[in-house]
Amino acid sequence: MRKISFVLFAVLTTLIISCGTDIDQKSANDALFKAQDLFPVPDRPEGQKDVIELRCEPIDTVRIAFIGLGMRGSGAVYRYTFIDGVKVVALCDVVPENVEKSQQTLLKKGLPKADVYTGADDWKTICERDDIDLIYVCTHWDLHTPIAVYAMEHGKHVATEVPAALTIDECWQLVNTAEKTRKHCMQLENCNYDFFEIATLNMAQQGLFGEVIHCEGAYIHDLRWLNFDEDGYWNMWRLKHLEKTDGNTYPTHGFGPICHIMNIHRGDKMDYITSMSSGQFGMTAYAIEKFGEGSDYAKRTYEKGDINTSLIKTKNGKTIMLQHDVTSPRPYSRLHLVSGTKGFAQKYPKKGIALDPNAHHFLPDSQLDSLLKVYAHPIVKDIEEKAKEVGGHGGMDFIMDYRLIYCLRNGLPLDQDVYDAAEWSSIIELSKISTENQSMPIVVPDFTRGTYDKVNTVTYFTK
Ligand SMILES: NC(=O)c1ccc[n+]([C@@H]2O[C@H](COP(=O)([O-])OP(=O)(O)OC[C@H]3O[C@@H](n4cnc5c(N)ncnc54)[C@H](O)[C@@H]3O)[C@@H](O)[C@H]2O)c1
Repeated sequence: MRKISFVLFAVLTTLIISCGTDIDQKSANDALFKAQDLFPVPDRPEGQKDVIELRCEPIDTVRIAFIGLGMRGSGAVYRYTFIDGVKVVALCDVVPENVEKSQQTLLKKGLPKADVYTGADDWKTICERDDIDLIYVCTHWDLHTPIAVYAMEHGKHVATEVPAALTIDECWQLVNTAEKTRKHCMQLENCNYDFFEIATLNMAQQGLFGEVIHCEGAYIHDLRWLNFDEDGYWNMWRLKHLEKTDGNTYPTHGFGPICHIMNIHRGDKMDYITSMSSGQFGMTAYAIEKFGEGSDYAKRTYEKGDINTSLIKTKNGKTIMLQHDVTSPRPYSRLHLVSGTKGFAQKYPKKGIALDPNAHHFLPDSQLDSLLKVYAHPIVKDIEEKAKEVGGHGGMDFIMDYRLIYCLRNGLPLDQDVYDAAEWSSIIELSKISTENQSMPIVVPDFTRGTYDKVNTVTYFTK
């Protein structure tokens, strides 16, 4: 009897202990595999409201200051000489020749001379002026958020080159300042306006792909030569970022168009991200080849792994794959792949659309061309010819600028709002941390603070 009691006691004890262990193990696993909420959403400051579909007073003639007139900024000034209803009031760059070149661009078109600025902090003086409506930022990345925030605080709308922000903290600075000042803050994501991308947005909105389940985007662009060119980027700013940061350092070109197709913060939102980088091989190999084994460039450490891949799950159960690679010898690609319950589209390496019930094969080129014509986005139709003539990445840059001014002049919400700017830019820090921590999943902050489903589709307003 005593023996049985002892056995019973031993069995029960083992059961209890093993149960306890199972439960502990399960909660440990749950905690381990749950996406980490490393960037909790801060409370919205009192009196502040969201700026979803923000409308501001129409501006008859949009008075613009351009800050940063390097490769990108000088092209922007040129494009604006073709747009009605604007006046370039100020030009600013720390390199006086760049300012002079853009001034000549205006004068050659018979436009009035702009005021010129060449001091490193002159952008502050410009933002403080009271005769400017829009600050257009084309500097290196580190100045985007500081200028955008200062501009809005001084009553200006702002359009900033990509990426709008480098950290989650900067993303919140943009969101909070836009909500507080009720000013527009647009990230200049030109790829949303490329002809194929914007046609596929229209197709998705018309239901051609059924329910869009998965999208892919990328920025794959061999920039090794330009990164190492001492006469290329000002102060070699882009190389410095490759030296100090891993993850996806330039996410928005491939990401913007698919986020609009997937209605991010228009009914859906990003839930969590996981990211992985290869090691760094390409920069060092290229530096050795170009400058020699003992050269300074060959000896430097480049934190940026050559190929970064991120996966994102959305709240509504959709998935996104995003890649970044600027250091491998391979053809240019932004992927732009859209997969739905009724059809499929991809832009690279070859444009193609496949539709149910014959989606096993792409449509023949002639059918693809007519489909692209039928589904040309309404905002593109009127402006396509002029955009191709003025140019800027084949015309998409001009459409972006034209739309920005059209919306400001008509008091319409902009195509891209401050939440787009924050969401698309947030990938930089989120992917960096995930990459550095064995691809740990991380919760993507909801920059709308709960109003991500206030509207249920992306609208490029025309009235
Ligand atoms: N959307 C696109 O397709 C696209 C293409 C290229 C570049 N970009 C973006 O445009 C931006 C500029 O790129 P870029 O290729 O013209 O680089 P860049 O180095 O040629 O230009 C940067 C300019 O900023 C100026 N600058 C530096 N400090 C300044 C200051 N304190 N005040 C005023 N100006 C200052 C520099 O003198 C330089 O002329 C970057 O953010 C880049 O990511 C976007």
